[in-house]
Amino acid sequence: MDATKLRRAIARTRLAPVAAFPKRLASVARHDTKVLRTSARWLVTSREHHNYTYDLTTLSRHHLAWFVSVVCDVPVTQVRGHLAEIESDDGLRRHIEQATARAARRGLADRRVRYARRIGWYAIVRATRPTHVVETGVDKGLGSCVLASALLRNAEEGHPGRLTSLDINPEAGYLARSAPWSEVVDLVIGDSIASIAALDRPVDLFLHDSDHSRAHEKREFEAVEPKLAPGAILLTDNVTATNVLAEHAERTGRRFLAYRETPANHWYPGDGIGVAW
Ligand SMILES: C[S@@+](CC[C@H](N)C(=O)[O-])C[C@H]1O[C@@H](n2cnc3c(N)ncnc32)[C@H](O)[C@@H]1O
Repeated sequence: MDATKLRRAIARTRLAPVAAFPKRLASVARHDTKVLRTSARWLVTSREHHNYTYDLTTLSRHHLAWFVSVVCDVPVTQVRGHLAEIESDDGLRRHIEQATARAARRGLADRRVRYARRIGWYAIVRATRPTHVVETGVDKGLGSCVLASALLRNAEEGHPGRLTSLDINPEAGYLARSAPWSEVVDLVIGDSIASIAALDRPVDLFLHDSDHSRAHEKREFEAVEPKLAPGAILLTDNVTATNVLAEHAERTGRRFLAYRETPANHWYPGDGIGVAW
């Protein structure tokens, strides 16, 4: 009997689980060794303790381009151009490196600039040219800088817009306090629900990225609803953890899609972009 016939014969016996055990052990060991090696390298090379940064895998970046293309109804070639635009913005990269090196909390930040899914936020702003973007949750200000860069490019093409960035922490947003990015950013310190209630201009693009509890995420979408401009787009950074935006989309008669990012060479499984439009 040849090896294949023998394997098939064993698979039909009560010995099958025992015979398969070495192969199963090798598969899980290969996977776990890779995770352990990546985690150990990260522990000694990175300083980040939350809001991790990383690049996307090539495949994940391809999928992100198609995701933005479908949501914004623009050709995928145009989206790829926008992704390349933010990635090759050397002025922004240099600014983030230098501001990080000078920051009081530099012991908890990496100098190397990696935008992860934020390049998708950039492409959405470039494709839809919003007049008013609101981001809740700022942290160092990486996302604010990315969004502000997109607004500055839109302005060069005759479509100006502003970003209102909301955070409860008065130290948040240090990356977004320098020109030219700061010229289009209004940084508001306070609880996001109160800050949303105080917004006095219609919102074209809203991004939830603050307190990621289910209850707070839901409260933000409810609070911003009466502030939205016709055709506004809602984004969440919490889509891999909750179904809040999908439920909000269903209640308000919108469509919903989710993109799940895959980090390259990082132990963190990644976040994503949820969109309702
Ligand atoms: C995940 S970070 C934001 C990341 C940022 N958008 C970026 O692109 O890197 C979450 C931020 O939400 C802020 N935050 C937490 N609860 C908040 C609340 N109730 N109102 C406003 N900001 C809040 C935190 O201070 C923290 O800076």
